[in-house]
Amino acid sequence: MTKITPQPGIMEIALYVGGAAHVEGVSDVVKLSSNENPFGPSPAASEAARRATYELHRYPATDHAGLRAAIGEIHDIDPDQVICGVGSDEVLQFIAQSYAGPGDEVIYTEHGFSMYPILAHACGATPVKVAEKDRVVDVDAILAACNDKTRIVFIANPANPTGTMIDLDECARLANGLPEGALLVLDGAYAEFEQGYDGGASLVASRCNVIMTRTFSKIHGLGGLRIGWGYAPRDIIDVLNRVRQPFNLSTVQLAAAEAAVRDTGYTEKCRAENERLRGWLAEALARHGVKTDVSHTNFILARFADAAEADACDAYLKSQGLIVRKVGGYGLPNCLRITVGDEPACRRVAHAVGQFREGAE
Ligand SMILES: Cc1ncc(COP(=O)(O)O)c(C=O)c1O
Repeated sequence: MTKITPQPGIMEIALYVGGAAHVEGVSDVVKLSSNENPFGPSPAASEAARRATYELHRYPATDHAGLRAAIGEIHDIDPDQVICGVGSDEVLQFIAQSYAGPGDEVIYTEHGFSMYPILAHACGATPVKVAEKDRVVDVDAILAACNDKTRIVFIANPANPTGTMIDLDECARLANGLPEGALLVLDGAYAEFEQGYDGGASLVASRCNVIMTRTFSKIHGLGGLRIGWGYAPRDIIDVLNRVRQPFNLSTVQLAAAEAAVRDTGYTEKCRAENERLRGWLAEALARHGVKTDVSHTNFILARFADAAEADACDAYLKSQGLIVRKVGGYGLPNCLRITVGDEPACRRVAHAVGQFREGAE
């Protein structure tokens, strides 16, 4: 019998590897491998989700009007230019599916988020990896890699797993320099952690080739519910809505996300606490001789002498119940990505890294 074959590109996909959550034989475990909010969601979001369970027999809204209105109000953008998805991953998928296909190229960067090449392969396009400069997105290198086949450029700003970012002028220079017909996707999964940064919303408002994506999984602490959104010119939103399933978000997701985005006091509290603890942790790591770049996110990329030292530190942290992320798959084998946890978690990480480094000397 002939083997039934999938669409081109599908078998090129390397399966996404999520952050580990358990350590064999260790009970008091702290998960610092998925950049989750250690404080959880706003109590208002939890309460809204609970109340929404009384409506489980009803289909949810197809137009997400309530959530889009709340996003529009809080972010001062037009709700008609917003699309919501099952995590920002789904919005990124709508974009790839709608704008790239066989024969097209999708650009992402050296240490970019691993979903970008996956999404490119899934729609039959060719992912093109562009070098970064010392773990920072390099606009000139991206522009040099563009050609008439380029359809999408994905960058996360701030970036995962490096935690670095480029400023809005650089994003604008990138958007301005793209070939006709190519889109710049500014993935703002970590945008809220950078005070005063709009995630690129101002660029979307003033250009026809920029899309911004955002998530409820990080600062809003709702990773388990899966909600994200995108902001784009109206004609692009119209396109993306055509590939979106009508009931992609449940009543519970919609209610929780709306309450979360409206609870700006809670969001600010999480941002400020993350900034404080991130600074503390970076200093503690520095005292133990572990280098880091300035992070604009809710994690820190710790750099070790080589891959062997990073692996050994990862193993030691695991033995102490601390699960962090190895990032060899992102071209950073000598690094570990450590989510900024609550204060006790940060103290445990600092202490364990200190013990590891003393043992190494
Ligand atoms: C840069 C980046 N973009 C997008 C996502 C996906 O987030 P979501 O949970 O909204 O699908 C993540 C999640 O880790 C991320 O790090």
